Amino acid sequence: MLSAVEQAIEGAILNLDHQEIKKLLTKLPKGKRLRAKLILYIAKENKESIKLASIAEMIHAASLLHDDVIDDAMQRRGVESINALYGNKNAIMLGDILYSIGFFELVDMGSIIAKSISNAVVQLSIGELDDVSLSKQFNVDAVIYRDMIYKKTASLMEACAYSAAILAGKNADAYALYGKNLGIAFQMIDDLLDITSDAQTLGKPALHDFVEGKTTLPYIYLHNRLNNEDKKKLEAMHARSLDMKEQEWILLNIKKYDIIQKCYLEAKELVLEALEAIKDEKNQKLNSIAKEMIDRSF
Ligand code: FPP
Ligand code: MG
Repeated sequence: MLSAVEQAIEGAILNLDHQEIKKLLTKLPKGKRLRAKLILYIAKENKESIKLASIAEMIHAASLLHDDVIDDAMQRRGVESINALYGNKNAIMLGDILYSIGFFELVDMGSIIAKSISNAVVQLSIGELDDVSLSKQFNVDAVIYRDMIYKKTASLMEACAYSAAILAGKNADAYALYGKNLGIAFQMIDDLLDITSDAQTLGKPALHDFVEGKTTLPYIYLHNRLNNEDKKKLEAMHARSLDMKEQEWILLNIKKYDIIQKCYLEAKELVLEALEAIKDEKNQKLNSIAKEMIDRSF
């Protein structure tokens, strides 16, 4: 099912007939294609939905190319990132090319869908901007964190689900709510995995987010629970490399206050709301995507 989307992406890029771009493309990991799946599972596989899915994935890939430059990430999905292999300039330009092709194609999709997707890209760019500026200080506000991840991650999933429903003449608001909640939960779980997975599984060093200054939900909740002295201790570790003892201290306290479970339950609640939003649609595949997200132990 996804192979048609891969072909559409490859076709659009090969059409440019440019050797350098082709070379870069071979090093770009494909990922889970979650956005494409949402679209195809809502609108079924047809010419329009495949086109929309390929647009969403090109825009998403572009955003990750830029994100890895911004985050100085040397790995993506367990392999070397494009910026690590070919430098920041090439990664940024490949991103520019991908999202520009996406927008070029989007023009044909009708104004409701074009506006929904392009507005989401504005939102995800604002979300990334907020993520960067929030990283400068120890953010202790969970509402601010949630708003940032909604923009950074969930806005595009929301728009994909909404647009796919428009294509299929289905209940767009219900699917949009599904996409939004799934997206927020997805980012929360991604942020949890940064703490619970080992470096090898994750494809980047553990506690990387905190080292980068990102006080994701677990750090916010941990900070809330600590006494004043330990709050200061945690704050002093923010946005710098940590030695083993410091890492252990953080992990010990996360365990002590059952922070992972608290965050997981919050993500689960959102997934259950996502399922509730589309319960009348009886869409088995979308139900499975949502369930698989929370069907894991931490
Ligand atoms: C990953 O966050 C980042 C995003 C989901 C959005 C990135 C958006 C931009 C860079 C704006 C530019 C947009 C375009 C279309 C070029 P993360 O760093 O928390 O996740 P990670 O662990 O996967 O890196
Ligand atoms: Mg990143």
